[in-house]
Amino acid sequence: MIRDAARDFARNELLPGVIERDEKQEFPHEQIKKMGELGFLGMMTDPNYGGGGMDTVSYVLAMEEISKIDASASVVMSVNNSLVCWGLETFGTEEQKQKYLVPLATGEIIGAFCLSEPEAGSDATSQKTTAIDKGDHYIVNGTKNWITNGGTASVYLVICQTDIEKGHKGINALIIEKDMEGFVIGPKENKLGIRGSDTHSLMFNNVKVPKENRIGEDGFGFKFAMKTLAGGRIGIAAQALGIASGAYELALQYSKERKAFGKEISKHQAIAFKLADMATEIEVARLLCLKAACDKDEHKNYDQSGAMAKLYAAEMAMRNTVEAVQIHGGYGFVKEYHVERLMRDAKITQIYEGTSEIQKIVISRGLLK
Ligand code: CAA
Repeated sequence: MIRDAARDFARNELLPGVIERDEKQEFPHEQIKKMGELGFLGMMTDPNYGGGGMDTVSYVLAMEEISKIDASASVVMSVNNSLVCWGLETFGTEEQKQKYLVPLATGEIIGAFCLSEPEAGSDATSQKTTAIDKGDHYIVNGTKNWITNGGTASVYLVICQTDIEKGHKGINALIIEKDMEGFVIGPKENKLGIRGSDTHSLMFNNVKVPKENRIGEDGFGFKFAMKTLAGGRIGIAAQALGIASGAYELALQYSKERKAFGKEISKHQAIAFKLADMATEIEVARLLCLKAACDKDEHKNYDQSGAMAKLYAAEMAMRNTVEAVQIHGGYGFVKEYHVERLMRDAKITQIYEGTSEIQKIVISRGLLK
């Protein structure tokens, strides 16, 4: 039911205008509002805090369907669900949950997760943004880069360094509101893919943040980021899966309609074998995503299974969206056929929430522990 509801929503509400939004880099405001009303922005959050109370498997099914059509909308969904709502629900205080989680889970507002910096992407412990302890508040200074929902969010979970001597144990996660004095939203990035999503740099100039906005104990910020990202990677794996399966479905359909050398191109083995490889790889990625989601739902460790799902799904999405363009030939190179957009969108899944190389670090460290 959840998968079908997400599929219907994607086809009826996201498909119209998806090419234009990509072209103009237009954020899907209206569609995201509807996603909030339908419960897609706080799917896994406890209903007592305005969420849908669903499991991670349901979330993966919905992410795949939304991503088949519009990966710009699904990244908003992914960040809000897995990073912002999950992070606040799992580690926030009751007061933080009432104040921030409830409007975030109902989709009344959206959130952003701010870890990356100009010089700290993969090397996440090297945070240069500082949060200096001033007794009952912190003073935050620094810059964050490539922040999804950067211009449209109302609440930002910001990872900052409080005590450089303590390394990762000196890092804190703070809740910063959009209208806090000294918080400046930088220019919007002009991106290769997921162009409908809203990616900005953010500047913090002596922003005063009350202590009650810190998530967890003093020094918990790095672990907060790692634990939150571990779940986020399952969402991005499902996004990559959706991008690939969306491209595959278009290629399959096209290959049954397009004729060359006297028959449908699907009847040429050169194309049929491509379709067989694509379908097999997509099924592998789907099973890896569901395995990681089950691990999380069963309260098992999902660091490795989530990283495996993301690594495989992202690499697979890149390979198979290129193949989908190839099957479409010249038509694949023009915007009306959607597959060139899906190919551009696939690329980011190999980069954000940890590059493919970072996933290999997480997986191999787990193996060698
Ligand atoms: N859960 C709990 N604790 C964890 C953890 C996890 N999953 N992973 C690491 N830790 C803990 C470690 O146990 C260690 O703690 P102790 O010292 O107490 O044992 C501490 O964190 C430091 O860990 P490491 O020594 O392993 O740290 P490292 O510097 O070697 O880095 C890394 C590890 C995996 C490479 C990490 O830096 C990383 O994940 N980097 C990538 C960051 C990333 O994904 N960025 C994406 C930005 S967000 C985004 O993209 C959102 C968006 O817009 C869509």
